[in-house]
Amino acid sequence: MFASIRRSICSKHHSPKIELKRSLQRCFSALAKPPSGEPQRQPSARPNSAQIFRKLLPYTSKYDGERYFVPQTWTDKVVKGMVKLFRFPMDTIFREDYMRRVIYLETVAAVPGLVAGSWLHFHCLRRLHDDAGWIIRLLDESENERMHLTAFLHYEQPGLLQRFMILATQIVYTSVYFVAYAVSPKACHRFVGMLEEEAVFSYNEFLKLVDSGKIPNGPAPKVAKDYWELSTDATLRDLIVAIRDDECEHRDINHAYASEIQDGTSPYDFEPISPTSRS
Ligand SMILES: [Fe+2]
Ligand SMILES: [Fe+2]
Repeated sequence: MFASIRRSICSKHHSPKIELKRSLQRCFSALAKPPSGEPQRQPSARPNSAQIFRKLLPYTSKYDGERYFVPQTWTDKVVKGMVKLFRFPMDTIFREDYMRRVIYLETVAAVPGLVAGSWLHFHCLRRLHDDAGWIIRLLDESENERMHLTAFLHYEQPGLLQRFMILATQIVYTSVYFVAYAVSPKACHRFVGMLEEEAVFSYNEFLKLVDSGKIPNGPAPKVAKDYWELSTDATLRDLIVAIRDDECEHRDINHAYASEIQDGTSPYDFEPISPTSRS
């Protein structure tokens, strides 16, 4: 009797295993074949992260000449000395080989924004406060520097020695910068602001070599035309001018952030968010 009851139940209700198998089959067949009459999705022209960032953060600075921050505190003076110290080996190693120089330096320049953005991100999570839009700007800076590198790689590829330099510098510089940022975000933003001053100077030197014909003024790569929205006949010169604008922007933002930290008005001084909206 019990066997017949079980048979009659099983004939109406399948075991959970079979039910699960069937529903999985239904799911996969639905994924494979969309129901007729439903429009099929075309592969979308999804903008890349660079284009999204550019839309979110339109340029705020344009080239306004070479400008240099006058050190105000002893920390600023130490930082200025470090920047000059950092520049010396670059001038010695690369001299007028600006293409190799910028390829190497852009791999270095893309580090601080990511480190600072990550650090502040965790700070905001830990201390429960707002970031006043700093994080996305810092990440944008890092992304932007990597785009400088991407654009120049279309003109020249680094050799084995330079690749080793890039690897070694990344390991050392990222570690040191991370610790330095944890100790003094203000000094680090001032340091980047001063490095960017040097970058503006270097790109002016690069432009002089292009204008004198010592470096050929070839066409700008497509990736650069898309990213900076350059004209279809844009050249290396146009690309350098666009990148110099970016460096001005990084310079101004980092000096502003350093000053805000010094004045005690930066996100690092924000109070935790309070539940004011609760009725
Ligand atoms: Fe750069
Ligand atoms: Fe920069």
